[in-house]
Formats: sequence, structure tokens, C-alpha cells
Amino acid sequence: MRHCAILFGALRISDIFVNAASTLLSGGTIIAWDDSAYYLKIIRNGSVLVTDDYIASVNTSPRPSELPLGTKVIDIANQILTPGFIDTHRHGWQTVFKTIGSNTSLTEYFSRYGEFFAADKFTADDVYISQLAGLYEAMNGGVTTLLDHASHTWSASTSYAGFNASIESGARVFWAFAFHNTTSLNYTISDQISTFREMAENKEALVRDSPTELGVAYDAWGPNPNLNEARGIAELIKEFNVSVMTTHSLAGPWGISNLPSEVQHFGILNGTVPIVFSHSSFITADDLQLLRSTNQYISITAESEMQYGHGHPHSYEVQDQAALGIDTHFTYSSDILTQARIWLQSARLYYYNQVLDNWHVPTYSPMTVNQAFLLATRSGGLALRRPDLGVIKRGAKADLVVWDAENSPSMLGWEDPVAAIILHANVGDVLHVMIDGKIVKRDGKIVSND
Ligand SMILES: *[C@@H]1O[C@H](CO)[C@@H](O)[C@H](O)[C@H]1NC(C)=O
Ligand SMILES: *[C@@H]1O[C@H](CO)[C@@H](O)[C@H](O)[C@H]1NC(C)=O
Ligand SMILES: *[C@@H]1O[C@H](CO)[C@@H](O)[C@H](O)[C@H]1NC(C)=O
Ligand SMILES: *[C@@H]1O[C@H](CO)[C@@H](O)[C@H](O)[C@H]1NC(C)=O
Ligand SMILES: *[C@@H]1O[C@H](CO)[C@@H](O)[C@H](O)[C@H]1NC(C)=O
Ligand SMILES: *[C@@H]1O[C@H](CO)[C@@H](O)[C@H](O)[C@H]1NC(C)=O
Ligand SMILES: *[C@@H]1O[C@H](CO)[C@@H](O)[C@H](O)[C@H]1NC(C)=O
Ligand SMILES: [Zn+2]
Repeated sequence: MRHCAILFGALRISDIFVNAASTLLSGGTIIAWDDSAYYLKIIRNGSVLVTDDYIASVNTSPRPSELPLGTKVIDIANQILTPGFIDTHRHGWQTVFKTIGSNTSLTEYFSRYGEFFAADKFTADDVYISQLAGLYEAMNGGVTTLLDHASHTWSASTSYAGFNASIESGARVFWAFAFHNTTSLNYTISDQISTFREMAENKEALVRDSPTELGVAYDAWGPNPNLNEARGIAELIKEFNVSVMTTHSLAGPWGISNLPSEVQHFGILNGTVPIVFSHSSFITADDLQLLRSTNQYISITAESEMQYGHGHPHSYEVQDQAALGIDTHFTYSSDILTQARIWLQSARLYYYNQVLDNWHVPTYSPMTVNQAFLLATRSGGLALRRPDLGVIKRGAKADLVVWDAENSPSMLGWEDPVAAIILHANVGDVLHVMIDGKIVKRDGKIVSND
């Protein structure tokens, strides 16, 4: 590198010492984020420079005048560049059930496909393959970050199998170890805590250069918690300052409440760990205030809540503290774009109906494509307290998706890129995907060693 500096006197110091891998995504329309305007910023015929795992610059020209030595250029002229989409609730191990749960309600689900039913039916290899295939499916669809409520923790080996698959996938997985009573295998919660401790203490060595993070999932904060058990889990969360804690919150007629106030009873809602309440369909008004004051989030899994019958009666009013999720991807769409579209149209219907019910004609649309886009991207980052995820801006992680806006029949004639993605694109249009600065899908195909 020093030799280069001597030979090519025009190079700057910064060029010489950057031994990092740099990639320029050049041309194309960028759906970026502008911190000063606090809103989306559309850049046409611009470029994004990626260095290592982050976005080094967002440029208004396709070819900035100065580039680090050896920058690789990927031509994305006429395409649309978005941040990677964020799924804040999934059970990746369930891929193997694909299509067999298509007519089930949640009540039926528990005894057919849930973590307690499945406990003694999966080997560690089954979990590994099912998790890995599901993650590739997500990445193929433009999902780059996933909060995995990892309920396949039935033994030390099935726990490691799903964690290892997440690490090896290349996706940014917030892998949340579920502590639960899987009595059929005699793997007690205290055994589970031992496995978790081993993982957390060796995290660096296990995770290596993968963007995978370790979190906790626990569904027994309330009502009627086992105080000793729940306190122990809360202490574990604080001790390791885990990347996230997630819990299934239904409430209403479903029970399984795990409401914000019940979690706060153990003193973790107002701490430094982000807490994600999946569904939270029947959140109370007081709990919503608590959610806001502690800046925690719910994960709306639009299609899951419609298919299974948990519904989302209050979720439309919680969108300021909400991100999107998928849940059991074996039963329906596994990409966040589809969830954003379903959610957007259902929210419009919900608010239109309030007007129609009074025999009035609605004048304006109650929700925009930009709002749906932000729910699918930036809000997911905020739910994980990671403002560097789900946005294209200088310094953000390089989790990016290039959509084929040039040749896709469904996008012919597009003008507004956000509308083109949210209402016209589909998974088949995902051309390239980059996660943590590494290309994981190229020219429509997942890039993987085997
Ligand atoms: C993009 O910018 C380059 C360089 O300024 C220019 O040559 C090219 O025609 C532009 N492309 C479009 C589609 O405007
Ligand atoms: C779904 O229900 C239909 C009608 O009862 C049935 O024909 C089909 O086999 C069911 N599919 C599955 C996967 O259970
Ligand atoms: C998980 O990966 C580690 C290496 O990081 C390996 O030692 C272990 O055997 C793997 N476990 C399973 C169940 O695949
Ligand atoms: C496990 O079972 C015990 C005893 O029934 C119960 O108190 C506790 O809340 C359960 N924990 C979970 C995570 O379900
Ligand atoms: C779990 O423990 C019980 C009581 O010790 C025993 O009867 C049962 O066989 C064990 N189950 C498994 C799968 O090891
Ligand atoms: C926990 O981690 C977050 C994110 O890295 C950090 O901001 C916070 O200070 C940490 N909290 C504690 C108690 O270490
Ligand atoms: C969190 O709330 C508890 C209970 O109200 C309080 O004792 C504690 O000081 C709060 N912690 C922070 C960091 O605000
Ligand atoms: Zn779930």
C-alpha cells in the first residue's frame, strides 16, 4: 500500500490506510434516511459507499470523485436501493412444517406445531437445517435482520443447532434463547440457563465475524408469574446486558398477557435492554403509556394475527411504538414487504370503517406508503434500539437490498420509489442483498458456501 502512495502521488492518506473492503453501489434510486429532516430522503442516480460492515457515504452522484483504493463497483442504475427489511418476531426452526398449518387457528397450533408439542420430535440436525433454510428464505426476500424467538431450546444440542445455523446463515439474527418448561425431555429451566450462560460467556468465539446477537425470550412474566423463576431470568438479562428480551403478549381472551406492567414488575422495562412484545394485540391503555414512557416496542405480525385469530384490535393505535414481524413463516408469507402491504391496507380499512360506520364518506387516506415503509425498516431498528439498522445513512450498518425496478413487469412505469416497493414489488424482484457489508444474494441467487 505504501508503494502505491509513492507511485501515485495524487492519492490521499485516507486512501492508503484503508485496507478495508469497499463496495460502491452506483446509480439507481436510493431510499435514504435524513437525520436532520427526520424523514426519508429520495436520491436519484446516487450511490452508496460501503466500507467493511457500514455505510461510509451516501452520495448524490453515481460516482463520487474520491474512492478508497480497490473499491468494487456494482452498477445499480435504474434499480431501487432500500435498507434491509426487519422482522421483529419469528420462529425460524419451523420451516420444515411448510404448508401443513395452512388451515389452523392458534388454538389448534399449540397442540400441533408449538414448542411443547414439537419438543421430542426434532433432532439437533433437524433444527439446524430447518433454521438455516428459513433464514435463507428470509434473506432471499430482502429481510436482513430478524428477532428470532428461539423456542427450539429443548436440549443443549438443539439450542446450539439453531444458534449455530443463525451464525452461519450470514443474516443479522437477534437469536433469543427461550426459557420454557419442556418437561418431556427433562431439560429444566435451570439446565437451559446453564446452556445460555455457556453461550453468553463464549459469545465472541462462537459468533466470530457474524452479526448474530444473543437475546432472551420468556413468556411467563404474567399473569401469575413464578416469582423466583422470573426474577432469575430478569437477573440473567441484566447480568449479560443481552441485546434484546422478547415475550409473547396476547392478553384479552387469550390470557398469556406478559404486558409491559407485568414485565416492569421485574424492573427490566426501564433498563438498557430493548424489550419487544410480540403481537400485544390486547394491550391496555395504561400499558401503552408505559410502553411509550420507556420507549419499548410491540411487534405486529399482521398476517399471523389474521390467520390464527389473535387479531389486533388495539394495534392500529400503537403504531408509534410498533415494528413488523412474521411469526410462524411456515404458514404464510415470510417476507416483511408482504407484511407491510397487508398491514397498510388493513389499517386503511380499519380507519375508513370508523368513518363509514357513521354513514360518512372518507375523504383522505389514513395511512401512507411511507409510513408502511418506515414500519418495515427503521421502526424495527428502533425496536431493537439500533438506530443504525433499517436506514440508509452514513455510519449505519450496510444491510441493503437492491430491487429490480428496471426489468420487473410489476414495476414498469414507476415514479415514486417507495410506492413502487410497498405496493408493486415482490420477493422475485429482490436482485441483490447485502448484510453487514457482505453480499448474501447476488443476481437473484443466495450466495452460500454449499
Ligand atoms: C446518472 O449520472 C451520470 C453521471 O452524471 C449520467 O451520465 C447518467 O446519464 C445519469 N443517469 C440517469 C438515469 O440520469
Ligand atoms: C385445508 O382445508 C381444506 C378444506 O377442508 C382441505 O381440503 C385441505 O387439505 C386443508 N389443508 C391442509 C394443509 O390442512
Ligand atoms: C455449534 O458450533 C460449535 C462451534 O462454534 C461446535 O463446537 C458445536 O458442536 C456446534 N453444535 C451443534 C449442535 O451444531
Ligand atoms: C414453568 O413451570 C412452573 C411450575 O408450573 C411455573 O411456575 C413457571 O411459570 C413455568 N415457566 C414458564 C416459563 O412457563
Ligand atoms: C424424564 O424424567 C422422568 C422422571 O425421572 C423419567 O421417567 C423420564 O423417562 C425422563 N424422560 C426423558 C425423555 O428422559
Ligand atoms: C448495555 O448495552 C448497551 C448497548 O451496548 C449500552 O448502551 C448500555 O450502556 C449497556 N448497559 C449496561 C448496564 O452495561
Ligand atoms: C426503573 O423502575 C424502577 C421501579 O419503578 C425504579 O426503581 C428504577 O430506579 C428505574 N430504573 C431506571 C434506570 O430508571
Ligand atoms: Zn410467536
